[in-house]
Amino acid sequence: MSVYDTQAWKDAAAKINLEEDKVPVREIPSVLVKNDGGKVENAWEWMNVRRPQVLDFYTRELFGEFPPRPQEIKHEVVSCRNDALGGSAVRKEIKITFRQGENSHSMLMLVYIPKDAKGKVPFFLGLNFKGNHTTTSEEDVIESGRDTEGKLVEDKRGCQAQRWEFANAVSKGFAVATCCYHDIFPDFPTDEAWQKSIYGLFYPDASSKLNDRHTAIGAWAWGLSRMLDALEGEEMIDCRRAGVTGHSRLGKTALWAGANDQRFKVVVSNDSGHGGATLFKRCLGESIDIMNMVFPHWFVAGFKKYGNMDADLEFDQNFLLSLIAPRALCIGSATEDLWADPKGEFLAGVHASEVWQLFGVKGMPSGTHPAADVNLTGEVSYHMRTGAHNILLQDWNHYLEVASKLFG
Ligand code: GCU
Repeated sequence: MSVYDTQAWKDAAAKINLEEDKVPVREIPSVLVKNDGGKVENAWEWMNVRRPQVLDFYTRELFGEFPPRPQEIKHEVVSCRNDALGGSAVRKEIKITFRQGENSHSMLMLVYIPKDAKGKVPFFLGLNFKGNHTTTSEEDVIESGRDTEGKLVEDKRGCQAQRWEFANAVSKGFAVATCCYHDIFPDFPTDEAWQKSIYGLFYPDASSKLNDRHTAIGAWAWGLSRMLDALEGEEMIDCRRAGVTGHSRLGKTALWAGANDQRFKVVVSNDSGHGGATLFKRCLGESIDIMNMVFPHWFVAGFKKYGNMDADLEFDQNFLLSLIAPRALCIGSATEDLWADPKGEFLAGVHASEVWQLFGVKGMPSGTHPAADVNLTGEVSYHMRTGAHNILLQDWNHYLEVASKLFG
């Protein structure tokens, strides 16, 4: 029986509200209140006292422990072309292999680098949903993205190309790197998925029991950091100008990667919704109960205790966003994406801005939710694209604009 046929799912789904008029006014907790009840006074105290408390809270209650570094990591360039994207880019495919004792695991990264750049270039990296060969129509990109039986999750080349638009980023002077998230943790709530994931490196008997301390989102975020490590060896790429991006569940992942790895100087959450940028306490769209039912492997088992408590939480997702400060944070929403609560994504950014203000900058430039297709650009940026849950050229262009301003 699928989870959607259970009474628990039906009960949880019946409680979902998608109407703004029915959103009660609730106070959003301030992340500046420390565990001892005192208030953070300055940036030093944020970085050294409160930030570690919040990071520890998210580790224990939502995303689990960041996996360790394996004993050995190997980066191998398995293909390189100088004539990619109509001659504008160098394209590389880099196999990243981890070894821990007898165990090994690998992931395949696809990288496009502007060809005529004068000097090292800034870049974005992010995970894709369906395999590297789906992110571009270039015929010879190696297929990736397999389920627990080793079958490709998608064989249609280029079917997600609209989500990447490599040529656009390259024309603006950015490199882009991507890897399929199934390579790191196949996105299924089964014991087989845990075994085939990178947790199999560290635990020979990996299973969903690890869910007490580990999560799929934790594994994916870790994978983003390992992609960054691999790019540190690339002479055309400037790892001091790194951005991390992600859409939807992979937007939740990009936020968690940015929280753990401060080498990411721009962090992009595109339509990341609940468990990502959105406030739980507004109770608009997805609920904690539903997320835990359908995607138990995304969060630690203990996150279930918050089911039905969305309105009464003593924290909210402004806490997660604040872990990015004082670096650049971009939040993107879409008008039709009510499941992710666009206004909640915006307001979380507004509430998190109190942390940027400790650093003497404003954070989100305005407290009023902007109309569709208006870009707010600041240390915390926001826009709401007209249309459905997706990441498209318009979204990329705002993120690239923010990164260009920051990186010069
Ligand atoms: C589901 C899930 C969301 C998630 C989204 C996605 O809709 O409920 O939390 O963000 O999938 O990743 O596509």
